Amino acid sequence: MNFLAELRSRLKVALAKADLPVDDYWQMLQPATDAKFGDFQANCAMPIAKATGQNPRVVSQNLVAHLKVEDLCEAPEIAGPGFINLRLKGERLEAETGRLARDPLLGVEPATKPKTVIVDFSGPNVAKPMHVGHLRSTVIGNALCKTLKSLGHKVISDNHVGDWGTQFGMIIYGYKHFRNEAAYEQNAVAELARLYRLVNQLSDYHDLVKNRGAVLAKVEETRRSLASAKGTAIPNEKPADAAKRVRKAEGDLADAEEEAASLVRKIGAVEESPELLSMAKGHPQIAELARKETAKLHAGDKENLRLWQKFVPLCLAALDGIYERFGISFDLTLGESHYNPQLPGVVERLKKAGLAVESEGAVCVFVEGNKAPFIIQKADGAYTYATTDIATIIDRIEEKKADTILYVVDARQSEHFGLLFETSRRLGYATTDFRHTSFGTILGEDKRPFKTRSGDTVGLESLLDEAIARARQIVDENDNAKPVPELDEEERQRVATIVGMGGIIYADLHHNRDSDYVFSWEKMLATRGDTATYIQYAYARVQGIFRKGGIDLAQLRDTTNLSELPLRMPQERALALQLHKLGSTVQDVCVDYRPNLLTQYLFETANAFSAFFEHCPVLKEEDSSVRTARLLLCDLTARVMKRGLELLGIEVAEQM
Ligand code: ARG
Repeated sequence: MNFLAELRSRLKVALAKADLPVDDYWQMLQPATDAKFGDFQANCAMPIAKATGQNPRVVSQNLVAHLKVEDLCEAPEIAGPGFINLRLKGERLEAETGRLARDPLLGVEPATKPKTVIVDFSGPNVAKPMHVGHLRSTVIGNALCKTLKSLGHKVISDNHVGDWGTQFGMIIYGYKHFRNEAAYEQNAVAELARLYRLVNQLSDYHDLVKNRGAVLAKVEETRRSLASAKGTAIPNEKPADAAKRVRKAEGDLADAEEEAASLVRKIGAVEESPELLSMAKGHPQIAELARKETAKLHAGDKENLRLWQKFVPLCLAALDGIYERFGISFDLTLGESHYNPQLPGVVERLKKAGLAVESEGAVCVFVEGNKAPFIIQKADGAYTYATTDIATIIDRIEEKKADTILYVVDARQSEHFGLLFETSRRLGYATTDFRHTSFGTILGEDKRPFKTRSGDTVGLESLLDEAIARARQIVDENDNAKPVPELDEEERQRVATIVGMGGIIYADLHHNRDSDYVFSWEKMLATRGDTATYIQYAYARVQGIFRKGGIDLAQLRDTTNLSELPLRMPQERALALQLHKLGSTVQDVCVDYRPNLLTQYLFETANAFSAFFEHCPVLKEEDSSVRTARLLLCDLTARVMKRGLELLGIEVAEQM
């Protein structure tokens, strides 16, 4: 039973019967922060008293008199200024725990009004190798799909890949001028990725050479500013403000130096290679020419279109390789190009509706309160990311009947989505729930966007490989430390994959998605702490108990024939209560689409299990009904952990 929801609804009834305002007060009932106050606490009496000009203790007495909970709780107690403390009756908790053991859904109840939810996530620009920046959208989106599905919603996952962008001009240019035929035959995607990087590097090179003077001058200028910040005393300035001013100047200098170092590195990389340098010299207009290839593609040039048609399926197949490692498959992969035929009609429709107007040759939607207009057709006639996104919304609502659309996309696109949603509402889609489920950046230990040591973006494949290699060391150490190692080579590698992938996914999800976070291998794979590894170990530990005790799980889970299921120790009670919260936690995740509420719950569950396991012997317990109750708690803990991790896209191993 979802005790929290049940008690809140009883509180709602009591508020009405006691002639008190109901408003949101009925929700002011929470799990108690300290077991000595009971299991739950309602703290609505104080704000109600304030709002109605009554004495808070009188309000709580009135409420308690109307609160019908005797089937669930001991007599409510009023404490302090008017807190109402509730303690579940032991026999009720025991009976409900038996019921939970028999529930295949583990208390996760289907929504009464299922919705159609489209989750737009991952969305990489194909033909560029996936990098660490794609991690967050991919794992957060996947976790949200799974949690929403577990609540019975109709979920459609859609990978809105960028398959029509400027990267194709670069690849086409590279393919025409630099391709290595043998390499292409061998591994087309790897060769395309090389060509993309090469063309990017060469066009960057020309840009950087052009900017060199300015970038180096900036370093000198910020250095002078720092010296002057340190040297000037402003009359009456507080020391803290002076320090702040100096820190700011130091930061500016560090940024400028970083930029200069990166410029020198990148220019050096080309100039130190005779081959690259001669390519650069031979293609001075490369950036411009690559843009022309894109323009030709968009204008329907036969040759470029043929190449594009040849490249896209190869790129998508390569992406699938990565998604498979995450256990992700999309319901739809409708890339940007899918909407090309609709774009002229979208612009017409927006003009007819009076939303879009011509401005300096372009077609724009102006939304008050926004600095930039929403450009839906550029002066040269080209359609934009925005036009495609409006076409996508029309299709998602008209054809796929979406009630809610989640865009799991980097916070840096918030302006785009603000304009997109407002434009769509004005176009007539005012009842659809559009959500930019945004997230922050992954940072390196230096608090700057996470890069490799040489300053390049971190490839996603190599990141996953490293996570698994590091997990393998932990698995080896752990297994070697056993009196008799239990895992063979193949099993160790399988477990390492589960631990490594789980570590990466959990480390990402357990942060509040809005904040940036610092990537740390040590924290991610720690066997103690808020990590997947810790929870996976707890799970494996339970399986170890069952193996050792030769427990028949099917029989254990069928509690219908039990006369007694004693949960008397405080740690048993606490763990049982915790296990009853999976359902409400999953619901909470889907209110504002926050998977970190589920990681937090799993961490707390692992902690509650740890405390239980420390104080309550299981296999050694002599009283058979106590032993059964404890085994059942162990089993429920394992099932809840496995299910919870599964909803986050993380696997478990039976033995570690
Ligand atoms: N391809 C885009 C990017 O890399 C993300 C797409 C997000 N989805 C969308 N419907 N705009 O920035």
